[in-house]
Amino acid sequence: MIRSGRLTDSQRKAIDQHWPHYVVDYKAQPLALKSLFPAASELIVEIGFGMGDSLLEMARNIPTSNFIGIEVHRPGIGKLLHGIAEHGLSNLRVICHDATEVLENCFENESIDKILILFPDPWPKKRHNKRRLIQGDFVDLLVRKLKRDGRLHLATDWESYAEQMMNALENVTALVNQNGPGRFWDQPERPVTKFEQRGKRLGHDVWDLLFAKSGL
Ligand SMILES: C[S@@+](CC[C@H](N)C(=O)[O-])C[C@H]1O[C@@H](n2cnc3c(N)ncnc32)[C@H](O)[C@@H]1O
Repeated sequence: MIRSGRLTDSQRKAIDQHWPHYVVDYKAQPLALKSLFPAASELIVEIGFGMGDSLLEMARNIPTSNFIGIEVHRPGIGKLLHGIAEHGLSNLRVICHDATEVLENCFENESIDKILILFPDPWPKKRHNKRRLIQGDFVDLLVRKLKRDGRLHLATDWESYAEQMMNALENVTALVNQNGPGRFWDQPERPVTKFEQRGKRLGHDVWDLLFAKSGL
């Protein structure tokens, strides 16, 4: 499923020009990480990067880590491709496909150092809560793909989702809350995202969670 949305001329041009260089076409098989990145390094995956500004900023700030962004929203992919090309980044690549299938099929178990999911769609209506990404099976999938000591960083500006995230993660024996049981991360180390800025303008609070996979 690709969300098309309206593309600006610059996004369309970036998709036409840069797709073959920076997008890894989805195949249901493990990625050849060695040929994707010039240097083996810590692997950081962001799911649902939206317009990609914060992912681009992280990849520019930490050139020694390798980043993969997963998104289905074409305008955001176009914008990010433009940024990757503009800054000549060799440590950031993009997959344009459903994150559940990508995680399941494109990454070996225990292969990712850090997974970020910042402001996943909140699905605020009670009858839509079941569409929320962060729950049961998906959390198990995230944990399987993380290396031991790997980190999982989530954020939301929707209080009931923050509580749901906290419950879902604290229910997993292999995950340890890095801020102490039941506690959110007050001063998260990450760039501000587009979706977060919009929420802040509407007066929303923000909750970040940081968990590590223990050796259990
Ligand atoms: C609310 S937006 C937040 C975007 C960005 N992280 C931010 O904070 O600005 C959630 C994003 O997740 C993406 N998304 C939702 N479900 C997805 C899935 N199954 N696979 C990949 N991306 C997904 C959407 O396309 C959307 O861009």
